[in-house]
Amino acid sequence: MRFSVTSAILSLAVASAVYAAPTAPVSPQEKPNLVNLEKRGWVMDQLKPLFTKALRTLECGACVSALSGAKGVAYLNKNWVLSAATSLCKSTKLADADVCEGLIALQGPVVIEAVMQANLLKGDGKFMCAQALGVCPVPTVMSGTLAFPKAKPAAAVAPAHSGKIVDVLHVSDWHVDEHYVAGSEAACTKPLCCRKYADSPATPTRAASTWGDYNCDPPLKLGLDMMKHVPTVANVNFTIMTGDVPPHDVWIQTKETALPQEKLAYDVMAEGIASKVYPTIGNHEAGPVNLFPTKTSGGDISWLYNSMADNWSRWLPNDAINSVKNFGAYT
Ligand SMILES: *[C@@H]1O[C@H](CO)[C@@H](O)[C@H](O)[C@H]1NC(C)=O
Ligand SMILES: *[C@@H]1O[C@H](CO)[C@@H](O)[C@H](O)[C@H]1NC(C)=O
Repeated sequence: MRFSVTSAILSLAVASAVYAAPTAPVSPQEKPNLVNLEKRGWVMDQLKPLFTKALRTLECGACVSALSGAKGVAYLNKNWVLSAATSLCKSTKLADADVCEGLIALQGPVVIEAVMQANLLKGDGKFMCAQALGVCPVPTVMSGTLAFPKAKPAAAVAPAHSGKIVDVLHVSDWHVDEHYVAGSEAACTKPLCCRKYADSPATPTRAASTWGDYNCDPPLKLGLDMMKHVPTVANVNFTIMTGDVPPHDVWIQTKETALPQEKLAYDVMAEGIASKVYPTIGNHEAGPVNLFPTKTSGGDISWLYNSMADNWSRWLPNDAINSVKNFGAYT
């Protein structure tokens, strides 16, 4: 669930929606058009102070006004919004160039869609600014009536305690990184360090140790060692696995990177788990991360639900597996 750098960049993506020009939609491949460029320049001149203020002062009101401006412009041209967001992210050095590019390309379209559908002045704006930048107070929970699928049982009785005590293994937030390289830069400027990146310095300022670093996801070696240790300290009766298997390389995570990472992680975890497992999907399982499209929202997440369901079929009954295939969860 770690999120800070990501949300800061995404809020920048939203904020810089405002730099896009009010022109007919153009694809990035189209030749620059002088009239469009002039309009774009004019919009930037008008709105840049507004956004500079929002990002510099980190004030709630300034953030919401900036979002409102962004929303209007986003209706005119989403592609331009994305490229403007990317260049602003790079020029303000909010993140490394590859992180700006990857994160905005993967998450930006959805963020823009959310802003366009939001009722910014009726509370959504404050909510977004609170979540992304922490600059507004988190809105209080509104009262309302929630319909549960089933009525509460009239006289529920807790089952009697058997008196037996069992060991339960809880595996969560695995996030083991197969690309961890001991000796690489542990104090890097990306959301995840201890990897050999194309722009890594030749000599690290702090070298990643063999067993891990607080700036990094755990090396494979640590994950494997930990799993091998489990049977020596516990007689595990059953395991719960509460999601978040892939590493935090959120600016490059797609279906293509996530699936092999899941496979590898399951292989490693199998070293220490002989028991039955009750697994769940976490926010990091999706590729791109955090995005779980529904059947009606567009996008496709069936690749994740189906692959998890196939693997989990060794532990779960058929009705649970069908439910995982449909919406990624079961009861
Ligand atoms: C789990 O513990 C219960 C209660 O002691 C026992 O009946 C059951 O056989 C155990 N199952 C496994 C797989 O160890
Ligand atoms: C699930 O994953 C484990 C570990 O990678 C593997 O050994 C097993 O064969 C897989 N099972 C299925 C049904 O895919």
